[in-house]
Amino acid sequence: MLLSSYRSYMEDTILITGGAGFIGSNFILQWLERSSSAVVNLDKLTYAGNLHNLTPAEKRPGYEFVHGDITDQERLRSLLSRRKPRAIVHFAAESHVDRSIRGPEEFVRTNINGTFSLLEEARGYWGGMSSGEAADFRFLHVSTDEVYGSLGPDDPPFAETTAYAPNSPYAASKAASDHLVRAYHHTYGLPTLTTNCSNNYGRFQFPEKLIPLMILNALGGKPLPVYGDGQNVRDWLYVEDHCDAIATVLEKGRVGQTYNIGGWNEKRNLDIVQSICDMVDEMAGSRGAPRRDLISFVKDRPGHDRRYAMDATKIEHELGWRPKETFETGIRKTVQWYLNNEEWVRNVTSGSYRQWIETHYSS
Ligand code: NAD
Ligand code: TYD
Repeated sequence: MLLSSYRSYMEDTILITGGAGFIGSNFILQWLERSSSAVVNLDKLTYAGNLHNLTPAEKRPGYEFVHGDITDQERLRSLLSRRKPRAIVHFAAESHVDRSIRGPEEFVRTNINGTFSLLEEARGYWGGMSSGEAADFRFLHVSTDEVYGSLGPDDPPFAETTAYAPNSPYAASKAASDHLVRAYHHTYGLPTLTTNCSNNYGRFQFPEKLIPLMILNALGGKPLPVYGDGQNVRDWLYVEDHCDAIATVLEKGRVGQTYNIGGWNEKRNLDIVQSICDMVDEMAGSRGAPRRDLISFVKDRPGHDRRYAMDATKIEHELGWRPKETFETGIRKTVQWYLNNEEWVRNVTSGSYRQWIETHYSS
């Protein structure tokens, strides 16, 4: 995509929710590299939010961080009226399946009630715009492939028309939020866009998720806990490709539509962990025995979805987006980033992180 086309579109302010998280902070940094528009980042700073990711953004005029909760409607109302964004890109969520199994309530609160609050305030704000501004306004909701449930080994990948069948509290809360977004477009005409993306990986991912957890445990010589038989399949997309897809949908997507985003990279968990072991051996030096020896099969996640796969034909054909990284190039960059950023890792792997690892993996 041409830089100039981003520039002409991004003249004004955009509001990002959850911009201190993994994907949100990658999105803000990529967006600011490509445009001179103002960015407001509303984030509650849960355990998953990290303002250090955004140090380069803080130097940019027009960037503002607002510490707040998306369920706080008064706060949202005054923020929208003060900053007058031309678009809202909604990342804020509780995002980890294992945490949703141990404590689903926060997932309902943030993912469902929070999205509802944001939609309500966006509707009021949009309703007060001139007709020209209202036609240009966009509410882009960032969602996941997990809303579609689990595939059999020979099933075709999820398409936008696949029926929703969420299986974890996380997936159910995201499915509910997707339905609310759909209803706000259908009922009130709010100009919404929804993206459903497969598993992301890359810099800034909190090491509770598979790829960063395995990189850091492999580096530290700790056990690599593979759930069940390790044959569950996920589709993996490099986070910068996801951010580029979101920007493309925001710029060119048809209002009211949903777009599936994926990397055409279906991989079994065990294969991912083995390739991380080999890469860490190669890039960080051998520790005597190969790191594959650290792999340990542990009790399976309850209700563990067997296979996800995404059909990204619609976004590719309609909007011309394609991923730039293959899994092999993306995973190499990711391992290198975690090797080079020990201080970031030290900062996020204290306190609540240690507590989570102890509670979750102790059994
Ligand atoms: P993350 O957990 O890394 O970050 C979430 C961010 O939201 C954090 O900064 C957190 O502080 C903030 N937040 C949480 N509750 C909030 C609240 N009530 N009010 C304001 N801010 C709040 O998540 P992520 O991996 O960056 O995912 C971002 C979005 O993308 C989520 O909506 C997720 O469902 C979706 N998604 C993620 C993936 C993935 O592989 N990580 C794949 C597809 C879709
Ligand atoms: P995760 O990164 O939690 O993403 P999601 O559940 O949203 O797909 O997990 C990816 C896959 O890796 C999933 O099949 C569960 C598995 N997994 C393990 O085998 N061990 C682990 O320690 C973790 C965190 C995940």
